[in-house]
Amino acid sequence: MGEHRNRATAKRDVPVMLAIGLIASLAGIALGLAIDWFPAQASKQADSIDTLWDVLIIVSVPVFVIVCCVVGYSVFRFRARPGEEELDGPPIHGSTKLEVIWTAIPAILIAGLVVYAWGVLRDIEKAPASTAKEMRVVVHGVQFAWTFEYPGIKVAGQPLKSDQLFVPKGESVKFLVKSEDVIHDFWVPAWRMKVDAVPGITTSYRITPTRLGTYPVVCAELCGLGHAFMRQTAHVLEPAAFVKWVATKKKPAVAAGGGGAAGGSGATASIDAKKLFVEGNGAATSCGACHTLAAAGTTGQTGPNLNEFLKADTKAKIKQAIVDPQAEIAKGYAGGIMPPNYASTLSAAEIDALVNYIYDDAHAGRR
Ligand code: CUA
Repeated sequence: MGEHRNRATAKRDVPVMLAIGLIASLAGIALGLAIDWFPAQASKQADSIDTLWDVLIIVSVPVFVIVCCVVGYSVFRFRARPGEEELDGPPIHGSTKLEVIWTAIPAILIAGLVVYAWGVLRDIEKAPASTAKEMRVVVHGVQFAWTFEYPGIKVAGQPLKSDQLFVPKGESVKFLVKSEDVIHDFWVPAWRMKVDAVPGITTSYRITPTRLGTYPVVCAELCGLGHAFMRQTAHVLEPAAFVKWVATKKKPAVAAGGGGAAGGSGATASIDAKKLFVEGNGAATSCGACHTLAAAGTTGQTGPNLNEFLKADTKAKIKQAIVDPQAEIAKGYAGGIMPPNYASTLSAAEIDALVNYIYDDAHAGRR
């Protein structure tokens, strides 16, 4: 008898569950669309990607929310009441109608989204009218830094190389992405497009920057202990300013790191070493993010505590630890985590300033 009553009410429960699910879905969609998921759009491609994202939210939120509503409602409504612990439920042998419905609906949804997403990707990856003039940038991923190479711009017969990404506004740029060790993922969130850097093959995408400014370049594939620090900066310049930047790179390197013997002391005085240590300089990542140094008030644990590790070292040794971090690895730490490119992301004067700053604090305890 009890069994019959439950079956009869279950029929009326379906519309109730769907109604709750529908209202909750509308709330979920409203929330999903209200959240600002991404930074400001900075490429021609960004708008289509954001629209695709919104469509995915509208379609996928109800799937999740309705399933949760049906499960939650059923758990509550059909729970065992006191005295029913020993009862079996009604014997059910499947429902062809239900199975067809719950296979067909997801299949149609997925097929529709695949076709739509494919169309969006095809549109935004369309080559510009003249690919011959399109700028190309080869992006090299290596644990744990990006480097950028401009095959179309020659400096002393070699393609121009840079640790920071510079591109002109309003021109289509094709990125050819490579990895020299493990899988990384080249992503500038403001441009939206992203692609894996896979050893042995070249992947690519193109974007047209539409907004001036600087934007984070990040690695979006867990690639080792230094993954989180594999961050650099993309600079979008007016075309004229880009030409100027190229011209400065073509001049014999003055502030580009390297030897650095002459760059020195005069400039060192004006550098805020503490700020540099704590925040980095835009190109070079922050020392303090990974290292503890009392004077800077940093408490990073990824690398050695510098007050301990460098307390007996000479300035020359400290400089080596910055520009050639693999030369000596502190006990208990793995090699290859500290970015290998500080010699080029920091100027000679900045390196000297950091060496003096770290030396003074690491040796302070011994005086
Ligand atoms: Cu490279 Cu994560």
